[in-house]
Amino acid sequence: MASSKDLFARAKKIIPSGINSPVRYYDPYPFFVKKAQGSKMWDVDGKNYIDYCNAYGTLLLGHGRKEIISDVKKQLEKGTLYCAPTEIEVDLSELISRNFPSMEKIRLVNTGSEATMTAIRLARGFTKKKKIIKFEGCYHGAHDYVLVKAGSGAAHIGISVSEGSLEEASKNTLVVQYNNSKELQSLLEKEKDVAAVIIEPVLANMGLVLPEKNFLNEVRKITSENNVVLIFDEVVTGFRMSTGGAQKYFSIKPDITTLGKALGNGFPIAAVGGKSEIMDMLSPEGKVYQASTYAGNPISVSAALSSVKIMNKLQPKLYPKLEKDCTKLVSAIHDLASDMKIPHQINSISSMFQIFFTDDPVVDYSSAKKSDMIKFKKLFEVLLKNGIFIAPSQFETVFLSYEHSKDDIRKTISAYEKALKAVK
Ligand SMILES: Cc1ncc(COP(=O)(O)O)c(C=O)c1O
Repeated sequence: MASSKDLFARAKKIIPSGINSPVRYYDPYPFFVKKAQGSKMWDVDGKNYIDYCNAYGTLLLGHGRKEIISDVKKQLEKGTLYCAPTEIEVDLSELISRNFPSMEKIRLVNTGSEATMTAIRLARGFTKKKKIIKFEGCYHGAHDYVLVKAGSGAAHIGISVSEGSLEEASKNTLVVQYNNSKELQSLLEKEKDVAAVIIEPVLANMGLVLPEKNFLNEVRKITSENNVVLIFDEVVTGFRMSTGGAQKYFSIKPDITTLGKALGNGFPIAAVGGKSEIMDMLSPEGKVYQASTYAGNPISVSAALSSVKIMNKLQPKLYPKLEKDCTKLVSAIHDLASDMKIPHQINSISSMFQIFFTDDPVVDYSSAKKSDMIKFKKLFEVLLKNGIFIAPSQFETVFLSYEHSKDDIRKTISAYEKALKAVK
C-alpha cells in the first residue's frame, strides 16, 4: 500500500491542496486512513490513533457501531435512493420531534450547511425581513450567508469573509460578540430589518467556548421581544449534549433548530425543524424553496434512525459516561499543565473540551485568539506522534465518544503529559 506521503503527493496534483475540506490539512501532510473501528483509526503507514477528532463531533457512538452498520446493510439490499417518500423518513422525523419538541415539523437534508441555509431562508420568508445576526467565531457551514467572521477552518486560516462570497450576502450578516447580550440588544434597537439570530448554543468552532450563565436566556428574551427568529444551530450539540441537545440541557426553546453530525453517527444526514407556522412556509405548499436529490435518502435515514434509537436506549448511561470520562481527562490535563506552570485555560462541557495557552478566560473570539497558536501546533504534533488524533487546529474541539475505554483515557493522559512537556 502507498504511504501517506506518496498519496498526498498524488492528491496534491488532482485535489486542490490535496484534501476535500480545509481543516483536514496539517504540516507536512495528513495521514491517510486505512480503516476505523470503535475509538480507533488506522493509517496506511501502519500506525493507529485514538480518535478524538471524531469526524468533528459526529461519531458519538464511535466508528462502525454494529447495530447501525447492520441496519444500513439491510437497507442497502432494498435500494439506495428512491426520490419518493418512505416510512422510515416519517419514523425518523417523528422520533426527532419527540426528542426535540421545539421541532414541530422537520425537513431532512444532507449536511449542516444545507440545514442552516434553509433555516435562514425560512426566517427571511417568515418575517419578510432581510438581515441576520451571527456571533463572531460561530461556524454554521460554508455558504455565503454565514461565512462571515466564522470559526473553524475559516478562523484557522484567517479568512474573515471568503473571496467569491457575494458582498450583498455578507453585508446583510451582522456580527456581534459571543456572550455579549448587551451588544445584541443594542444592535437590535438600531436595526429593524433583522429576520434571525443564529447561534451555536455551545460554541464548538473556536476551540470550545461556553455560554455564560443566563446568556442564552437573554438571547431568547431579546429575540422574542424584537420579533426575530431564534435559530439554534445544534449541528454539534444536538444528541451530543443530551438526546434533546443543548436546548434540553439549558431548557431553552428556539424557533428553528438545525441538527447534523451525531444524528447520523457518520452517515451524511442533517435536519432543519421548528415551529409549524414557520416550517409550513416550505414549498410546495409554501413559497420558501428547498430541495435536494439526496434529502431523506434511505441509507442515511436508516443510519440516523438506528443511531437515535441507540442513543435514546443508552441515554441513562451514555451521557453520564461521556461526562465522567471528559471530566477525568480534563482534570488530569489541567493538573499536568499547572504542575508544569504552563499558562492555560481548559473549557469543557459534556463530552467536549479544548485547551488554550493563555492566562485569560476564553469567553469569545478575541479571548480565544490570545491563545499561543505555536504551542497548540506543538501539542497537536506530539499528541499525533504518540497515537492521539485531535483536530489539527486551536479553533476546533476535542470530542469523546462512547467507545473511548479506560485504557484509551489512560494512554491519552500520558500522551498529553509528553505533549505538554514539549510545549513548556
Ligand atoms: C455548528 C455547525 N453548524 C454547521 C456546520 C456545517 O455542517 P456540514 O459540515 O455538515 O455542512 C458545522 C460543521 O462543522 C458546525 O459545526
